[in-house]
Amino acid sequence: NMVNKQTRTIAVLVPDINNPFFSEFIQGIEEIAYQHDFIPLVYSAGTQNQKVNYYLKELVRRKVDGLILAVSGLDEVILRQLASQQMPYILLDQSEKQHQSDEIMVQDLIGGQLATDYLIQQGHRRIGIVLPANSAWNIEQRLLGYRKTLAAHQITVQEDWIINTELSKKGGYQATDQVIASGVTAVFAVNDELAIGLYRGFAERQLSIPENLSIVGYDNVDWCEYVRPKLTTVRQPIFELGQEAARLLLDRIADPKKAIQQRILAVDLIKRDSVQTVS
Ligand code: RIB
Repeated sequence: NMVNKQTRTIAVLVPDINNPFFSEFIQGIEEIAYQHDFIPLVYSAGTQNQKVNYYLKELVRRKVDGLILAVSGLDEVILRQLASQQMPYILLDQSEKQHQSDEIMVQDLIGGQLATDYLIQQGHRRIGIVLPANSAWNIEQRLLGYRKTLAAHQITVQEDWIINTELSKKGGYQATDQVIASGVTAVFAVNDELAIGLYRGFAERQLSIPENLSIVGYDNVDWCEYVRPKLTTVRQPIFELGQEAARLLLDRIADPKKAIQQRILAVDLIKRDSVQTVS
């Protein structure tokens, strides 16, 4: 059909393809795309706006049928352009303000609360959080969950409990000395990669987890069961997130006029061996 020239391609932009969260997310997308005879093109776009914007421009020019954007810090101007060009897109985890496109989110506030609450239940009082300084909206929600939970237990967050680092294994590793210096007995690492980086930092200093530090991660990537001790974490339904993102996008491509849709998926706490009970 000459009017509706579909390329049957969708583009997927993630910040870091090296993070198993995004590999599993992409597999979910792929499954649905394949069933519907669409081909996903995947980009590990980093966190720099420039590269993201470049890809977006090119992808529009090359006529993909739609976009799944799992990158943060998206330029509002570009998003408006996408909308005005009638380019369907789905945001994962991004802003609450937007609400101009289909969006898929997770209960991040609850996730932050679950992690922190569990540490309190296990007897911890000095609890840190490891996260990037200027985080994406979903991670800010996890921080809010942490703060709310501590406040609800009359625990005042000390400034040095908020430990800022890059969102990666390396970031977690590099935060080790700061975590030790802060004097916390437990941390909430806002993703599993950070936790795994801390594992290495602690091992290199002959310190043990959970005896010297209890850790709760976030995501439940498959590695959680392959590290020692197995990582306690907040599970996101990662594969399902990918499937849902693809479904929303394909629905939108099929019916551009339909009402904006928002999906929120649930999280839960997976208890393993990285948290010690203290009295
Ligand atoms: O691990 C990567 C993080 O970025 C995940 O927690 C996910 O929610 C994404 O936003």
